[in-house]
Amino acid sequence: MFITFEGIEGCGKSTQARRIARRLEKAGVSLLLTREPGGTPIGNDIRQILLSSKNRDLPPLAELLLYQADRALHMSSVIRPALAEQKWVLCDRFFDATTAYQGYARGQDLHVTTRLNEIASSGITPDITFLLDCPVTVGIKRALKRNAESEVMGQDRFEQEKTVFHEAVRNGYLDIAKKNPDRFVVVDATQGENRLEEIIFLALEAHLPSGRSR
Ligand code: TMP
Repeated sequence: MFITFEGIEGCGKSTQARRIARRLEKAGVSLLLTREPGGTPIGNDIRQILLSSKNRDLPPLAELLLYQADRALHMSSVIRPALAEQKWVLCDRFFDATTAYQGYARGQDLHVTTRLNEIASSGITPDITFLLDCPVTVGIKRALKRNAESEVMGQDRFEQEKTVFHEAVRNGYLDIAKKNPDRFVVVDATQGENRLEEIIFLALEAHLPSGRSR
């Protein structure tokens, strides 16, 4: 099983990915929890470049290609091998993020973006994608609070974007979900963490090896 978690900044997807990973492990599932960008050591370097507010002037095409470089490496060295070992792979963001951020919000050609997604992911598509949807105001407020609590120095390049950018990302995600109803589960991310975990876990329970549940 290949499961991805998506949503705007501050939607709570990383928290849920960690919680669900713990829950699945307790249920006896052998899994790998990873993320994009930054699921490999080189990918982490690429992540620093992408998120650094020093690189405010990174051209959109270069940004798109850096995400795809991170993905190609992640796919061949981490995701594919784990899936081949029958592990469940839980990934905090994947190619839908590229379509939403670089395609819908940055205005990169959607056909080119989709084609590059296919190439970089070597044709592998998630089995289930959880879209944690919430209003931009809610997400940004949470992201700022998280930064303050974790003593992160300031906002990253994406968090510094204006509300209209985040609205475009949110609407992009909702559009992608509408076009892929078999793969997407859209959840209302304004709910509390415990409730969200229950909803997500319930959606996965049917896929657990028989006899294994909560
Ligand atoms: P994160 O904060 O969820 O780890 O994601 C890092 C940032 O990278 C976030 O602002 C979303 C952005 N991003 C893209 O713009 N395109 C992508 O393909 C991915 C994976 C992330």
